[in-house]
Amino acid sequence: MRSVMITGASRGIGLEFVRSHAADGYRVYATCHSLANADRLKALQDGAKSNIDIIEMDVTNGEQVKAVAARLKGKPLDLLINNAGWVEPVFYGSGAYEGKDDPDLRNYDFDGWLDMLKINLLGPARVCGAFVDNLAAGERPVAVNMGSTLSSIGPTWQAGRYAYRTSKAALNMLTRSAGEWFQKRGIIMVSISPGWTRTEMGGPKAKNSPEESVKGVRNVIAGLTMADTGKFFNFDGQSMPW
Ligand SMILES: NC(=O)c1ccc[n+]([C@@H]2O[C@H](COP(=O)([O-])OP(=O)(O)OC[C@H]3O[C@@H](n4cnc5c(N)ncnc54)[C@H](OP(=O)(O)O)[C@@H]3O)[C@@H](O)[C@H]2O)c1
Repeated sequence: MRSVMITGASRGIGLEFVRSHAADGYRVYATCHSLANADRLKALQDGAKSNIDIIEMDVTNGEQVKAVAARLKGKPLDLLINNAGWVEPVFYGSGAYEGKDDPDLRNYDFDGWLDMLKINLLGPARVCGAFVDNLAAGERPVAVNMGSTLSSIGPTWQAGRYAYRTSKAALNMLTRSAGEWFQKRGIIMVSISPGWTRTEMGGPKAKNSPEESVKGVRNVIAGLTMADTGKFFNFDGQSMPW
């Protein structure tokens, strides 16, 4: 049975990753920020034919991540999806792409910016390190960092959304640099943007449903080879500019 770990699985794209992989018979380690917010995951677990383990794992909590890694020691992992992410609603309103955004750096919430780096950048880095041995023992193992079109440096010439943009751009650099470390261990590592998706983060006007985004991301994952390690893809399979 193939296995997958998904972070930030309580809602949105993460929840759909869980549903979709469970439907395909994966053993799913569905990790979530807090068990108190895991009602939708529990409902999926009740109806699923395959095994869904719901595990509390705040990606900013080093001790908790280590404890989960100790619990799963020796268990092979074929796929890790670093999906947990955050957009500060004070910055963005209801959706990352449509809410109000004040580009004046004098008004920025720098503590909020730091919190975002802890979740969107240090979280995936910590999780990659904690589960690298599980992945190395997996079958055609893949680690995915969830990128964003907002993290693409080349096409960006627009003030604002600094915290989210910089956190995800730095995550791309993690994919690039830790990618080599992963590749030496036989693990493919990529960044993939799910596209603008109708979740609490993306807001109701987003183009794609979570089902469409996850289907696209999974198609990209299915076609990856080791030579793709360190690359950045869109959910439709197109290469994304750094
Ligand atoms: N939606 C889009 O249009 C879009 C576009 C590009 C990229 N993305 C990326 O895709 C990923 C999923 O986005 P989404 O739209 O599904 O977002 P979402 O609906 O806001 O869900 C985010 C998930 O991350 C979890 N999370 C937040 N902080 C966490 C922490 N410290 N530890 C563990 N989990 C944490 C949340 O759990 P709680 O609710 O319990 O806090 C929630 O389950 C994110 O990385 C996002 O940046 C989304």
